[in-house]
Amino acid sequence: MTPRIIKTIHEMQTESNRIQTSGKTIGFVPTMGFLHEGHLGLIRIARKQADVVVLSIYVNPTQFGPNEDLAKYPRDFEWDAKLAAQEGVDIIFYPTDEEMYPQGFVTTVRVDQLTEGLCGASRPGHFDGVTTICAKIFNVVKPNFAIFGQKDAQQALVIRQMVRDLNLDLEIVIAPIVREADGLAMSSRNVYLSPDERQDALALRQSLQLAESIIQQSERNTSVVLQKMREFIESKSTTKIDYVEIVDAESLQPIAELSGKVLIALAVFVGKTRLIDNVLIEPPS
Ligand code: PAJ
Repeated sequence: MTPRIIKTIHEMQTESNRIQTSGKTIGFVPTMGFLHEGHLGLIRIARKQADVVVLSIYVNPTQFGPNEDLAKYPRDFEWDAKLAAQEGVDIIFYPTDEEMYPQGFVTTVRVDQLTEGLCGASRPGHFDGVTTICAKIFNVVKPNFAIFGQKDAQQALVIRQMVRDLNLDLEIVIAPIVREADGLAMSSRNVYLSPDERQDALALRQSLQLAESIIQQSERNTSVVLQKMREFIESKSTTKIDYVEIVDAESLQPIAELSGKVLIALAVFVGKTRLIDNVLIEPPS
């Protein structure tokens, strides 16, 4: 079935109210489009768990910095709609900038602490844009649950915190990272990579695997692990590290000694393209 395409907030809210009144559940997958298997994994989880699946496609300008790729962010709505139809999406919410940020819009939703490090440090204001659009869109779609990817680990935790702090009435589900056959985490931005860069981009995942094996051999000092990861990534000709960090998996605070559940996260420029990846591990004590 072809998904219904809804472009206005009023129509989406009316439809969500109708669905909720009929006793059906709504599973929601927010995206910026240019769908790939990573997004489709989230849609499949929603399809399994909800009566009605809503997908949003909106390249949210407020989460892009002035020197980032907003204007050239890849878009292909026709293709996205085709994939969404194949995956059994019921509704695509596809608003315009005027609809989401009308003249006179002045409100920001901000989560502190969790947004300070990692991508928050290198992309000032990014998470304010993400939390603001997600808060708005949750109020438009009114889902019972929304699915986010572990690929953007910090984003998922920030959204969870916002939902808790603002008592938003929905559940956040976090889905595993979907990868290409050679290990590169799927991303809409992978289309920017030249063949050489595509090869070097494997260093993100490989450095995480290197870290895991060093930790498995009983290394517990994070600076030793981080140094080995950095050397490995820097050995590639097109890579430039934005950050490589080992943090507590819940607070996202950097740690000196590995213990408990930790997140190893990194952002690396491959050529001009900034890619991220991460792994969650719990070293045996
Ligand atoms: P976007 O980058 O399009 O990603 C939409 C969702 O897909 C996010 O939850 C992201 O974590 C997930 N995702 C992307 N690649 C993935 C992969 N390889 N494996 C698993 N999940 C993956 O993230 C955003 O859009 C925006 O910030 C948004 C939340 C829509 C707010 O504008």
